[in-house]
Amino acid sequence: MHNKRGFFKEAIKNIKISGSIVPSSKFLTNAMLKNVDFENAKVIVEFGPGNGIITYEILKRMRPDAVLICFEVNKQFYEHLNKINDKRLIVLNVSAENIKSEINNLGFTEIDCCISSLPLTNIPNIIGKNILINTRQVLKTNGHFSQFQYSLSFFKKLKSVFNKKNVKIKFEVLNIPPAFIYNCKKI
Ligand SMILES: C[S@@+](CC[C@H](N)C(=O)[O-])C[C@H]1O[C@@H](n2cnc3c(N)ncnc32)[C@H](O)[C@@H]1O
Repeated sequence: MHNKRGFFKEAIKNIKISGSIVPSSKFLTNAMLKNVDFENAKVIVEFGPGNGIITYEILKRMRPDAVLICFEVNKQFYEHLNKINDKRLIVLNVSAENIKSEINNLGFTEIDCCISSLPLTNIPNIIGKNILINTRQVLKTNGHFSQFQYSLSFFKKLKSVFNKKNVKIKFEVLNIPPAFIYNCKKI
């Protein structure tokens, strides 16, 4: 599972939910994590970790006393991630929509940042927008949200939720396929 072939086999079974048949490259992973303040972040959330390509990198960079809460709806990916032996990691087999109640259940009221690989284009519009709204609500002031997409279809929605001037966009040509990365800040 922790390789391209394993990801492909699982992703192809339900391409609408997985949104991609290849895991993110190191270029995309680095671009997604570039603006995260790992020195200070204590509560980190990841949406759609898949086989954990970005998760492993977050774990490498985060503080020893920080926590990483992952939301993954695919049972096989969830079980794979659950085997990662790191006490800072909490993996939930729950949709990202439930971020507010789930972090409350874990005893948190706010988060420092959220790294999202959700296939927003494949998620019903209203659910996608609610995920963004709920996530912004639980982000701390100055909290960071990053999301990648293979199209620009969510650029407008992100700007309406985070405010135009708080959404910066980058294009990563070295990923296959090339991807847009949105870096959003809650001000
Ligand atoms: C494009 S893959 C990204 C995998 C990995 N993070 C990467 O970058 O290679 C998207 C992942 O989002 C998960 N996913 C889709 N809808 C979700 C939802 N509503 N909540 C949580 N995870 C979801 C899929 O199961 C899939 O693993």
